[in-house]
Amino acid sequence: MLFPRNPLKKCFSSLVPSLVPNPLLVFPKIPPLIQTEFVLYEDFITEKEEESLVHELEPILKKIRYESSHWDNAILSYRETEKSRWTPVNQALIERIKKLIFIPTGTVEPLDHVHILDLSKDGEIKPHVDSVRFCGRIIGGLSLLSDSVMRLTCEKNKAEVYDAHLKRRSLYVMKDSFRYDFSHQVLSEKESKFRDNIIKRDRRISIIVRCQPRPEDLVNES
Ligand code: OGA
Ligand code: MN
Repeated sequence: MLFPRNPLKKCFSSLVPSLVPNPLLVFPKIPPLIQTEFVLYEDFITEKEEESLVHELEPILKKIRYESSHWDNAILSYRETEKSRWTPVNQALIERIKKLIFIPTGTVEPLDHVHILDLSKDGEIKPHVDSVRFCGRIIGGLSLLSDSVMRLTCEKNKAEVYDAHLKRRSLYVMKDSFRYDFSHQVLSEKESKFRDNIIKRDRRISIIVRCQPRPEDLVNES
């Protein structure tokens, strides 16, 4: 044998993003019927890739002031922007997200720009459903810099609640029922618990990838 078996396997495996969803990061377990509609990929990007994204975003975000609250009070202590052009390395990461979440369906058109949301350590996102006028049935979110807890609550039955542990560098994908029938929120530092374990919250940047609204949702636009 010329080379030892898989000489690079050990160090390489820690650099390869995980493309297998981890259902243990959602509690309680999502019933089979809607299991594919909220999916969490742990370690979707590597530390180096996170650093590369933050390095490109930080100078842009630094120029924006944190707002104490959103126009409809949905988000507290945050700053945000939209971005459509990236360095080639980071563009490839954004494409990796779009390919994973949009291409298998073939029925949605990604929006060109992605949404960047920078929540300060004491920031939070209150329960809301994204407006159907601005985006379609699939939403993906990559978490940078901090773990957090996302709570999903069924609008028609407020007792149906799922908590998702959004780990730093993880990607979540919410679609269909979780996109339209459940509200989502990101808990404040004080409330940040997953299965009774405290989840340490810090400043968190998310990169949110969305698709074009459904044509029927644009019909009555005034
Ligand atoms: C939003 C939102 C979630 C996140 O901006 O509408 O819900 O992961 N963001 O930051
Ligand atoms: Mn939202």
